[in-house]
Amino acid sequence: MALIPLVKAPDPRLKKVSEPIAVGDIDKTLRRFMDDMLETMYDANGIGLAAIQIGVLKRVTVIDLDPGGPNSKPLYIINPVIVASSTEESTYNEGCLSVPEYWDDVHRPARITVEYLDENAKKQRVEADGLFATCLQHEIDHINGFLFIDHLSKLRRSIALRKSAKAKRLDQD
Ligand code: NI
Repeated sequence: MALIPLVKAPDPRLKKVSEPIAVGDIDKTLRRFMDDMLETMYDANGIGLAAIQIGVLKRVTVIDLDPGGPNSKPLYIINPVIVASSTEESTYNEGCLSVPEYWDDVHRPARITVEYLDENAKKQRVEADGLFATCLQHEIDHINGFLFIDHLSKLRRSIALRKSAKAKRLDQD
C-alpha cells in the first residue's frame, strides 16, 4: 500500500466531475487503488475520501466512520447514486482533507438512500442517517465537483479558501 499526496483547495481539479467506473474495471487493481485511498485517509485522520482528492477523476470513494475503533468498517463505494433523500435536514460541523484548517456547519438531508457497487462489483443499497448520511453526501459532492464550502455563503467560502491556501503554502515550505 502507499500514501498518496492530497489535492487541496484551491485546485481546479476539485471542481471537475468524475467519470464512472465500468463494471469490467472493478478488479484487483482498482481494489489496490482503493486500499491506497484508505491508507491515505487513515494517515490524514479522515473518515471519507474521494478519488479526486488524490487527483484521480473516478467515481470512487472510501468511508470508515470509526477508524481504529471498535466499529471500524472500511467501505469501498463505486459509482454511488443518491436515489432518495428526506425533506428533513440535519446540520453537521464538516471539515475536509482538501480544505485544511476550516470547519463549518452544513445543512443536508438527514436521511438518504444510496445505490453503489462494492469492491466485488456487487450492487448495494444503503439507507443512511446521522454521520453516515452526511459523509456519503460529502463524498458524492466531491465526485460531482463540489466541496462542502460550496454549501456556505460566498463570504464564508472565501475565508475557507484563504485558510486552505495558507495551509497548503505552509505545507510546501
Ligand atoms: Ni472532503
